[in-house]
Amino acid sequence: MRNFLLEDFYEKHEFSTPYLLSQSDCESMTVEELLHMEPDAKKRFMQSWLGYTEVKGSPELRERIAALYKSCAPDDILVHAGAEEAIFSFMQVFLAAGDHVVYMSPAYQSLYEVTMSLGCEVSPWLLCQGDSGWTLDIDELELLLKPNTKLIVLNTPHNPTGYSLTDDEHKRIADIARDRGVFVFCDQVYKGLEWDGQAHSWMSDFYENAISLGVLSKAYGLPGLRIGWIATRNKDVYDMMVKFKYYTTICCSAPSEFLAIVALKHGEDILRRNVSVIKENITYAEDFFSKHAEAFINNAPAAGPIAFHKLKLSGGIRAFCENLIQRKGVLLLPGDVYEVKGDYFRMGYGRKNFRECLNQLEQHLSG
Ligand SMILES: Cc1ncc(COP(=O)(O)O)c(C=O)c1O
Repeated sequence: MRNFLLEDFYEKHEFSTPYLLSQSDCESMTVEELLHMEPDAKKRFMQSWLGYTEVKGSPELRERIAALYKSCAPDDILVHAGAEEAIFSFMQVFLAAGDHVVYMSPAYQSLYEVTMSLGCEVSPWLLCQGDSGWTLDIDELELLLKPNTKLIVLNTPHNPTGYSLTDDEHKRIADIARDRGVFVFCDQVYKGLEWDGQAHSWMSDFYENAISLGVLSKAYGLPGLRIGWIATRNKDVYDMMVKFKYYTTICCSAPSEFLAIVALKHGEDILRRNVSVIKENITYAEDFFSKHAEAFINNAPAAGPIAFHKLKLSGGIRAFCENLIQRKGVLLLPGDVYEVKGDYFRMGYGRKNFRECLNQLEQHLSG
């Protein structure tokens, strides 16, 4: 596999740059704060057993996760060490050289890189810059499908554009995929961060041959737990992924599974808190971008904690971001890590110090 450009950039800068203005995970919390949400949880956590856990994930955790779905049961849920393990594992068991894969582009790199490393033929389904943000043409999907298409890879809410598929769009894609005998892998790691009042369901609730990817890292702001999962009603895919997991992590960390159960019990509260942080930050950003219309195109997110804005100043996005890190200690993510053309950059809206970071960016602009 080629180098993972986004992760490589973060590895260099994430832990040494003070003002993080591009992160995709919402504000996190301490173990103590999480345990505090549930009476008795601290005592039970201290007494929890550090043995192996079940390969599929503990029954209680799978029950909690399944409760998020309309059509998936605990036996349709397979817990993984974060979302990344599940992406790798699914692609390995499901795809082979010569298969054709359509993926929403730009994309989080592992969503297409792993398929390419397996010798698959890939077609990007392009999100486009419109007059008021990013757009996706569902009609185009049908044109991209070929006789050897095995998989459509979706990501909604989308990294990096903040585009979000509605339930009607989910249904249309499910109908197209069913009609053409194609599976759908739907990365929904930002699910829960929607605020347009419309329903945004899990793809595996619509389509029997879909695999939905969920995680506690992003919308819940708990990436340190490394708890993710897939939900699928397709038993062959499920069983293949269980057998593959014997060769990767076998099972997840027992303390993390305990904490994940507590988080999901209070999931609605955590999501509400994180959506309100994002919405408040969007109002600060609107103000900032209207003051600096000569420098940026504001592509406000439709959902999720990130947006993909455009720099209008000359000099290139990589140089702008690097200069900003050096002068003001502010981390924006240059769009070239997504292999897109144009001076785009990712901004993260999920952190409580967003306004402070924005002030630093503003000082940078004023010289
Ligand atoms: C779309 C998408 N999928 C998967 C992941 C990986 O998530 P995790 O850190 O939970 O493994 C990320 C992380 O940024 C992501 O943005």
